[in-house]
Formats: sequence, structure tokens, C-alpha cells
Amino acid sequence: MAKTFKRTTVTSALPYANGPVHIGHLAGVYIPADIYVRYLRAKGEEVIFIGGSDEHGVPITIRARKEGVSPQDVVDRYHTIIKDGFKHFGISFDIYSRTTSPTHYEMASNIFKSIYEKGGFIEKTSEQYYDEEAHQFLADRYITGECPHCHEQGAYGDQCEKCGTALSPTELINPKSTISNTTPVMKETKHWYLPLDRHEEWLRKWILEDHKEWRPNVYGQCKSWLDMHLLPRAVSRDLDWGIPLPLPNTEGKVLYVWFDAPIGYISNTKELCEKEPEKYGNWEKWWKDPETRLIHFIGKDNIVFHCIVFPAMLKAEGSYILPDNVPANEFLNLEGDKISTSRNWAVWMHEYLEDFPGKQDVLRYVLTANAPETKDNDFSWRDFQSRNNNELVAIYGNFVNRTLVLTWKYFDGKVPTRGTLTDTDKELLGEFEETKAKIGTLLEAFRFRDAQKEAMNLARLGNKYLADTEPWKTIKTDPDRVGTILNLSLQLTANLSIAFGPFLPFSTEKLQRMLGIEQLGWSHLGETELMAEGHSIERAELLFEKIEDDAIEAQLKRLEDIRKANEEAKSKEEASHYKAAPQKEEVPFDVFEKLDLRVGTVLTCERVPKTDKLLRFTIDDGLGSRTIISGLAQYYDPESLVGTQVVFVANLEPRTMRGIESRGMLLTTQDADGSVRLLRPEVAVTAGIKIS
Ligand code: 2FM
Ligand code: ZN
Repeated sequence: MAKTFKRTTVTSALPYANGPVHIGHLAGVYIPADIYVRYLRAKGEEVIFIGGSDEHGVPITIRARKEGVSPQDVVDRYHTIIKDGFKHFGISFDIYSRTTSPTHYEMASNIFKSIYEKGGFIEKTSEQYYDEEAHQFLADRYITGECPHCHEQGAYGDQCEKCGTALSPTELINPKSTISNTTPVMKETKHWYLPLDRHEEWLRKWILEDHKEWRPNVYGQCKSWLDMHLLPRAVSRDLDWGIPLPLPNTEGKVLYVWFDAPIGYISNTKELCEKEPEKYGNWEKWWKDPETRLIHFIGKDNIVFHCIVFPAMLKAEGSYILPDNVPANEFLNLEGDKISTSRNWAVWMHEYLEDFPGKQDVLRYVLTANAPETKDNDFSWRDFQSRNNNELVAIYGNFVNRTLVLTWKYFDGKVPTRGTLTDTDKELLGEFEETKAKIGTLLEAFRFRDAQKEAMNLARLGNKYLADTEPWKTIKTDPDRVGTILNLSLQLTANLSIAFGPFLPFSTEKLQRMLGIEQLGWSHLGETELMAEGHSIERAELLFEKIEDDAIEAQLKRLEDIRKANEEAKSKEEASHYKAAPQKEEVPFDVFEKLDLRVGTVLTCERVPKTDKLLRFTIDDGLGSRTIISGLAQYYDPESLVGTQVVFVANLEPRTMRGIESRGMLLTTQDADGSVRLLRPEVAVTAGIKIS
């Protein structure tokens, strides 16, 4: 039997404060968490919603070094951008704090000490790369060298970005410290490890037997980790940015970012409870009471930390509850390509808020409709436009607008009297309760996409009801009947405002204001008399507006510009790593002389049918004309070559390609960026002239 709980602690992954938040984060973590929390609050449940910035870790120090500022400057800047963005976007955290807060330093240190005192860590000494000039151990990302697999220069100590292979720094050929550009040396260092192997048995039972209801992607990922067997994981690092290890004689060592970050959920809860004790009570009840249900909203790259490592930490400490569910999402792509911060391939929350002011609910709706709940999904601007125009405007907005406008037109903005109900009316009213049950069940199962679909289906029914009952026609013959129709339509409108409440909070507020109803809790959903007869409503304002093509085209152009800039940067990058091919074996002059190299003039040039690459040239070679086939179709428009001169090997044995005999070979060069060009004389010369 499902366990019943008194209250719920909801956490959403703490984003790294070294860059802004994008639609992938919103769709994967923050919107679903916010929908869930708003739903629980609407039900009147006791719930707390914890967020905050993750402000430690090596990438933050790398960014700071690149910008010539301190890591604190970097996190201060992004913490503010992220926090403000979430607020404007309507992510309704009870607290959004940070892992550089004093409360967090204290909490993380205390939890470490508590585990330490219980003998929950093991200590190991190992050799790691050390920069003798900078006098520091090097995090994997601070070491670059040649990839042992693809021989790319500049591969990182944890991964080669060219071939994607995960590496350890000792595998790199000719490693260099990125701090001093010197060759690092191996030096002994001691670290503290969480022996996950000791936790494997209970984790297996807890996840694989007791939590079969977890999403298949989460359960599956945990199972494969467990099946591979768990190994001890280092929870300390040699770094100058982080929470100092709370042990004597460990100067220069900090807690590993993945040890301190999840503790941030606890610290932020404590900070909130200490600020508002009357409202939230003691922080411990949110983390230690077995009657509290803990839910972590995260992206799929965080599964192992939230389902295995953090629970093992909490268990080792001994006084904490474990998560009841971890509804992790897969990834969202953008216009068919992986979202990438470094390539700027993203729609950034703060930029969206500037480009589409007042349209938070549109993005919330579209991202929920495309939520990557079971597989990776895609966001495209055309789909965004179409869902806004064809669903929010044409279905929900249209129904609400028609209902309000007709109520004003025929009943002076007052809820009309309800007469005898027809079967159609009764059927409509029956849907209210049914929708409530469906949405509730889906939300409890973390199926936000389908839950939102049900709310939209209810609006769809409203439109169908108006289309079937045609009050604008009936008004001439039976105004009382129209009163009933609009009374029911208004009740449906009020129901929609509740049903969409967790998903579209801004529109809900606007609609409830127009309807003149108080914030209605979830328990009212399904009720058929939410608006009393004679109650006044406000004049209709549009809930949603059409999004025109030019707004979408501007976004697509921005992405196209980014794509082009990325391609150029990539070509430049590749060119900068170009290594000239080694010189071939020497040949005597008479061997070279055997080659008959000439200049010819192109008489005709056309594509070889049914091939992508081949061009067929007819060349004036001074003796007559000859056919040469060359693989240049990707680089030249054939017509543009007619009349130009080329350099070719005249005495190469003929070769037949695609049934055409090619007599000779055109000389070309391929640049480091891959582009191919023909060689030509500097000025036009007589066709057939020899090259010597
Ligand atoms: O992947 C990330 O963005 C991490 N900063 C998430 C941390 S979640 C939690 F543990 F704080
Ligand atoms: Zn490689």
C-alpha cells in the first residue's frame, strides 16, 4: 500500500552559477517542479519548494580565471541573473539561496563531520598531477594534452571534446598545466572517499525492489550503475574554491562540489525556516521526519548523484529521510540540435523574458507540451508559434473570450440564471469532475505533459459546447436558454482557471480577476456552481495574443547567425591545429621530369549525372581537347569554371569513372578547414603550356 505522508519537500537541481538558465533547464527541472508545487499548494497540502545556486566546482574557477575576476565575482553575477529570471518566470520557490551562504558552509561542514565521526569515510593516498610553478594540484580540467585516441591536441584531462572519449589525466600524451603551461609532475595527495561499495546492498533493495514505480529512465540508470557495482567516490578535492575540509591539517583541500551541492537543499531549508519560523516551522521536520515526502526534480545527468550518492551520504549521516521519488527528465534539444552553453545554442530564460514580455505562460505551456519526460524532445520556434496561435489563442483564449464577451452582450456582464438542463448541458458538467480526477492522477504520477493536455481538452469541450448550442442564434428565439448556456460556460471558465492554475499561473490570475473570483483551491475544481447568478464579471481582455511571423523569424535569424558564427569558429580552430603532413621520400630530378604538368583552359564543365561529387571537364590542352573527371562538385558551380584555366597532370594513365574515361588529373589543394581549391597560373597563359 502506498505510504501516506504529512508534508512534501520539493527540491529542484541547483543550477551552476557560471552561466544563465536556458529552456532545457526550464523544461527539464524548474517548470515541472513548479507545476507540482503549485498543485500541492492548491490542494492545501503542506509543501516547501527549495531552490538555489550551485556556486562551487572547477568550471567556475576556470571561467573566473579566463575573465580575470574572482570566482565569487562570477557566482555573484550569475546568481542574481538566475534568481531574478526565475522570479519573473513565475518559478515559485519558497527560497532561492546559494551554496556560498554561511548557513550552507556550516551545514555542509557539519554533515561531513558527522559522517566522518561515524567512520563513514575512508582515506586514500594517490598520485595526482601537480603544477610546480603554480604550487597546486591540478583538477582534470586544468590539464590538457594530446588525446591518446584521436591525437587531437588540447584534449582535457577528463575528456577529449573532439572524439568524446572520457579520459583520465594520466592518459594524455604530453600533458600541460593550463595555469602555467608547464609539464605537471605526479605528487602524492590524500583524499576522503565515500565507500559506495558499502552501501550497495541496501541501495539495491531500496531502489530496485522498493521503488519500482520510479520513471523507467531513472530506474534503468540506477540499475545499470548498481549492476556495474559501486566504488568508493572521493568527496574532497585539492582546490582553492569550495568549502574547506573541516578536518585538521587539510589546508588547500575543499569538499567536492557534488558533496556540498545537494546539502544545499538542506541548508536553504534551514535558512528559510530560521527566517520565517511561524510559517515553515523547524527545518528538521522537512528533512528528518519519516512523515515527510522528499521529491527531487532533476535532469538525467544528475540521476546518479540524487539516487545513489546523496542517499548514501544521508544514510551514512543517519538522521535523514531519503527521496521518495526522483522524477528526472531527459534532455530538450533546440531546433534539432543539442542545447550547448559553450556554443550559445540555447534560448536563454532572461533573453526570452526581454523578447516576449508578459508571455511567460506561453513558454511554460510549450515547454510542458514538449516536456522530455520519457525521451529527448525538441523545441522549435515554429512549434512555439503554432502552439500559441492554435492552442492557447484558438482554444483556451477563444473559449474564455467568447464566453465573457457574450455575457456582456446579452446579460450586461452578470452571471445569468440557469434554467432546465439538457443532456448536452449535463454531459458538459460531468466533464468537470472527470477532468479533475484525470489531471490529479496524472500530476501525482509526475505526468505533466498529459495533465496539461487534459486541461486543454476541457477548453476544447467548451468551444464544442458553444458551437453545438449556438447562443448567438438562440438569443433571438429563447434568451432564457442562452442564460443557461452562458451560465454553464462561465462555470467552465472558472473551472479552467483552476485546472490551468499549476501550469499557467499568470493567465490564471488574470482570468480569475476578470471573473471576479478569489483564488480558488483545487478542491473547487469540478464544481458546477462556482459563480453565483447575478455575480458581475469584468470586461473581457485577451488571455493570449497571436504571435506573428516576424517575431519568430527574428528568433530563427538569431539562431542562424549563431550557427554560422560557430561554424566559422570551428574552421578557424581546426586550422589553428593544422599540422603539415611530413615530407615524402626524396626523388631524383629525372623522376619528377617524367610528370607532364600543363595548363589547360576549361571548355565545358558539367555535373556527372547521379553523383554528388563528380564534375566532367573538357579541357583545351593545346593539342586538342580531353575529358577529365574531378571530384569538385561540392566546391564549384560548374558553369563558373568555363573559360578559366587549370593545372593538370597530362600523362597520368587514363581511368574510367562512371563509364567516362578521364585522361589526366586536375591539381587542387585542400585547406585545413577542408575547403578545396583548384591551382591556376597567376595570369592567363596559352593553353597547353608545360609547367616546369
Ligand atoms: O548539474 C548541475 O547543474 C548541478 N549544478 C546540479 C546540482 S543539483 C544539487 F545537487 F545541488
Ligand atoms: Zn580524442
